[in-house]
Amino acid sequence: MVNELFNDISYNLPKGFDIIAQDEHLGPQILESLSEIEQRLSKAVTQTSRIADVTSRHLLNAGGKRIRPLLTLLAAAAGGGINDKVLDAAVVVELTHLATLYHDDVMDDAPKRRGVDTAQNIWGNSVAILTGDLIFSRASLIVSDLGSRPMSVQSQTFERLVLGQLFETLGPEPDEDILSHYIKVIEGKTGSLIAAAGSYGGILSEAPESTIQTLARYGELVGVAFQLADDVLDITGEGKKSGKTPGTDLREGVPTLPTILLEQEAERQDSSAQEILEMIRGDLSSDEALEQAVQALSAHPVTARAWSIACQWADDAVQVLKSLPDSTAKEALISFAHAVVRRDS
Ligand code: IPE
Ligand code: IPE
Ligand code: MG
Ligand code: MG
Repeated sequence: MVNELFNDISYNLPKGFDIIAQDEHLGPQILESLSEIEQRLSKAVTQTSRIADVTSRHLLNAGGKRIRPLLTLLAAAAGGGINDKVLDAAVVVELTHLATLYHDDVMDDAPKRRGVDTAQNIWGNSVAILTGDLIFSRASLIVSDLGSRPMSVQSQTFERLVLGQLFETLGPEPDEDILSHYIKVIEGKTGSLIAAAGSYGGILSEAPESTIQTLARYGELVGVAFQLADDVLDITGEGKKSGKTPGTDLREGVPTLPTILLEQEAERQDSSAQEILEMIRGDLSSDEALEQAVQALSAHPVTARAWSIACQWADDAVQVLKSLPDSTAKEALISFAHAVVRRDS
């Protein structure tokens, strides 16, 4: 039974994690943990009100890669070992992520998420925001049983997530460097939660303090690489694979690394950059105009440069892990960092 399930899951493991399947001990342990986490997630979003239950389950049931719970498990495995509290922490991380997706899709006016219509597309902004809040409250309830340090990780992460989204919304201060503002945004909105996955894995497996710090730092760096790659994939990726609508950031005018680099090139009098910039600042409401802008931007060298910057963050994440003793979990964390910046997502 476990073997059958294992084949299923290893087939479905997000890219970069295949190495887990080759480990006789860690493989089945991760499989069983993921399946238990799935059950706890489903229980955690349950509401007695039918409509609140439907809206809360909407994005959970739509799928998702479950990268954050998996990273929590691997961090624990690389630390003091997976245990019941680690599973709850993995649930907390995914619930927190899930809630931010409801809110993010409102802010970005995104039509699709995880291959389905977004909550605000179906029920409107208010329902989407409130559903996100319900899910946040469930995450808090679970974390309250995990102890005071995890509670403080959760509050600090929540604050950083919100500040990341706030800074993205407000844009850079007049005297602020655009690129460092952007990195600050993604460290907050994405790095913080993946860092929390690392911290929780370390703390709840009772790993040594230095290991906890290493795992948190790895999460932060790999999280930034992940968001940088996601931003480039908004331009070069396929909607079918990502379950999202390519070009959404462009259409909504959300600055991403390729567009920031493009602006810098345009200021340096690169005429093709100036042309593309004009295009992306123009009316992108029709699918044809968006497609044309996406094509032009992905062919410009700034997109390749954005990839290489993402690769540097992934390399730094790998570097940080050097201090940990060798294990399959550590190898899986390394291989995930490399996979994040593979261009075939
Ligand atoms: C989407 O995260 C938001 C970003 C930080 C880019 P994921 O790509 O992990 O989304 P799911 O959970 O697989 O849907
Ligand atoms: C993702 O933001 C970060 C959070 C959900 C907090 P994005 O807007 O960049 O991610 P996608 O592309 O919609 O998944
Ligand atoms: Mg967003
Ligand atoms: Mg978005």
